[in-house]
Amino acid sequence: MNLQTKNTPIDFNIVNQKIIESKLDNPGKATIREIKKLVDEIEKATGEKFVRMEMGIPGLPPTKIGVDAEIEALKKGVAAIYPDIYGIPELKKETSRFVKMFMDIDVSPEGCIPTCGSMMGSFAAFMTINRCCAEKDTSLLIDPGFPVHRQQLKVLNQKMECFDVYNYRGDKLRDKLESIMSKGNISCMLYSNPNNPSWICFTEKELKIIGDLCNKYDVIAIEDLAYFAMDFRTDMSKPGVPPYQPTVAKYTNNYILTISSSKAFSYAGQRVGMMIISDELYNRNYPKLKNYYAKDLFGYSMVFGSIYTLSAGITHSSQYALAAIFKAANDGKLNFVEEVKEYGEKAHIMKKIFTDNGFKIVYDKDEDEPIADGFYFTFSYPGYSGEELLNKLLYYGVSAISLAITGSERLEGIRACVSLVKRDQFKDLEFRLKRFNEDHQKI
Ligand SMILES: Cc1ncc(COP(=O)(O)O)c(C=O)c1O
Repeated sequence: MNLQTKNTPIDFNIVNQKIIESKLDNPGKATIREIKKLVDEIEKATGEKFVRMEMGIPGLPPTKIGVDAEIEALKKGVAAIYPDIYGIPELKKETSRFVKMFMDIDVSPEGCIPTCGSMMGSFAAFMTINRCCAEKDTSLLIDPGFPVHRQQLKVLNQKMECFDVYNYRGDKLRDKLESIMSKGNISCMLYSNPNNPSWICFTEKELKIIGDLCNKYDVIAIEDLAYFAMDFRTDMSKPGVPPYQPTVAKYTNNYILTISSSKAFSYAGQRVGMMIISDELYNRNYPKLKNYYAKDLFGYSMVFGSIYTLSAGITHSSQYALAAIFKAANDGKLNFVEEVKEYGEKAHIMKKIFTDNGFKIVYDKDEDEPIADGFYFTFSYPGYSGEELLNKLLYYGVSAISLAITGSERLEGIRACVSLVKRDQFKDLEFRLKRFNEDHQKI
């Protein structure tokens, strides 16, 4: 750091002091919650507002249709009653319709199961899938990814493999997956699409490669759709009309989809999501399941075995909320995509502010097409690691997280989440990044 940079937009000495008090050896390596706490402290001490991009939480109000339906259900007294473990009939029916209307796939209501957020869905999926076959004991994570999935496998004491997809887009994905899956130990593969943290979206070609290889090696794809229909390059908002949310379900029946209500419907607080199991997989027998569950049936074991051990049903009122949201979307009365487009529009402006000031977008392409503007983007600054950059940006009033905790090999990279940044902060962002660039560019 040159001498001039002690004159930083956020008081240099206070930032230093707060870093020392935080007892974080290296804020660049901190977890999301640790960064949040540190930035809260700096904001309090300086009175300056940061451009906060560390947390992936919705920045929009919850879908009103959901809130209204939930209030009505509560008034009717559902809070007193255990919900059925497999979900209320309205929600199962509307979810089955939803995947038909917005993905063009056929799944019976039976295979549409509520979970306490999609995170519980992936946890239950790992639990069940890795008990199906003795020789298939390893989950494959396509990185970069959501750090909690690694944590889930760790606490389950299950094996994992992973690789950063950055260098394996398009046809290269086939050889990479083949080299891993042909060993025969992979039970399932999880990826998010659109991807947290990079916002890359798999192309149809890539989804077909994944689906074909899941068929070839009898591997279950867990497709995490936390950002359903949020690739705003195509308008997926019309029920029953293409284009649809791209999915591996077009290419294999070996799939579980997890649909979150958190981002697409701004419903994160109510912790309700859906697990969708293909009809074929739901009804499949795995003799080894009997070691853990009452039956050898996959769907039955998932619901009455795994999910039941995690919670005796999912919050009753929130199921009514999600059922009402899906129904309104299915009936063409709610354009949920329009409601969240703001994220894409903000990302577009913010990415330009970054690139105009010497920063680079790290994950920048889907095959040969520029990536979409959405909930997250990734950036770097020449000559610095992600860790160093995060540390430095704290003095410029900008907070985010390092890609290092996401399984990314792009260690120069940082993830920015646009959701909490207000449009009236763009001027501050521009000023601060301009200053950063002036202070750090190589002359
Ligand atoms: C890729 C991904 N999966 C799952 C989740 C969690 O979703 P939920 O709130 O439905 O548990 C998130 C939330 O940030 C996410 O980014």
